[in-house]
Amino acid sequence: MAEPWLISNAETLTRLAEILAARGIKPPTDQEIDGYSPDEPGHPHFHRQQRITVALSRWTTATPPRYQHAAATDPTVIAWAADVIANPDNASSLLITGTTGTGKTYEAFGALKLIAAHGLKDYRLIATTTADLYGNLRPTGSAGASEQGLKRLCEIPLLLLDDLGSAKTSEWTEEITYRLINHRYNQCLPTIFTSNLPPRAATGPDLTSTLGERIASRLAEMVTVVPMAGADRRRAA
Ligand SMILES: Nc1ncnc2c1ncn2[C@@H]1O[C@H](COP(=O)(O)OP(=O)(O)OP(=O)(O)O)[C@@H](O)[C@H]1O
Ligand SMILES: [Mg+2]
Repeated sequence: MAEPWLISNAETLTRLAEILAARGIKPPTDQEIDGYSPDEPGHPHFHRQQRITVALSRWTTATPPRYQHAAATDPTVIAWAADVIANPDNASSLLITGTTGTGKTYEAFGALKLIAAHGLKDYRLIATTTADLYGNLRPTGSAGASEQGLKRLCEIPLLLLDDLGSAKTSEWTEEITYRLINHRYNQCLPTIFTSNLPPRAATGPDLTSTLGERIASRLAEMVTVVPMAGADRRRAA
């Protein structure tokens, strides 16, 4: 297994292990299969190690250099990662909100890394900002290519949709966002959203006014909201 300190801090890993143990999920021990060395095919450690290597390499490829050292620290985010590990086919989603530079994207990549480090069976992920998503799907040539791109995002086991609600909207972006979120909502596929906007605000813009009632309603049911507070870490640095 990759060295734990490359994945997260010890406190986070302990917290994750505790949550999983409470749900009856424990990593296999060396004693579980007699007659196989932990390094041989047939031993659960061997197969888990292989899954971890593949998953961490996929995470590294999908993660920009800025966030290669990301680590989840928020208890709700760690609990969400445990939920996905325990039940990847029917997991909840996460909405990390907060003002600029509070660490939303960092926390999101950290959560995806924790899941990779556990050796999830089908660890495939796409991480994109909403603006890039619209830019990549905008039909310039073949409409079929755009449909294929949307289908991939709809069906990928893990999706990070960064900066929801910050790109310029149009009827077309609303339809794309609706189709994507509606599909993942229907299929109970775990998604991490980040946004500068709160789900609802008494005054000023919020996700409901920006994305529309139908998308906001689905989000309300599918996500756990994690508000992040604090100063802009970029300026502090
Ligand atoms: N817990 C942390 N420990 C160390 N560095 C952090 C932490 N959280 C965030 N950072 C760093 O702070 C900077 C801002 O974090 P990040 O990009 O995640 O903020 P954000 O909330 O997503 O901002 P925006 O709203 O502009 O997208 C980045 O350089 C990131 O690596
Ligand atoms: Mg961000």
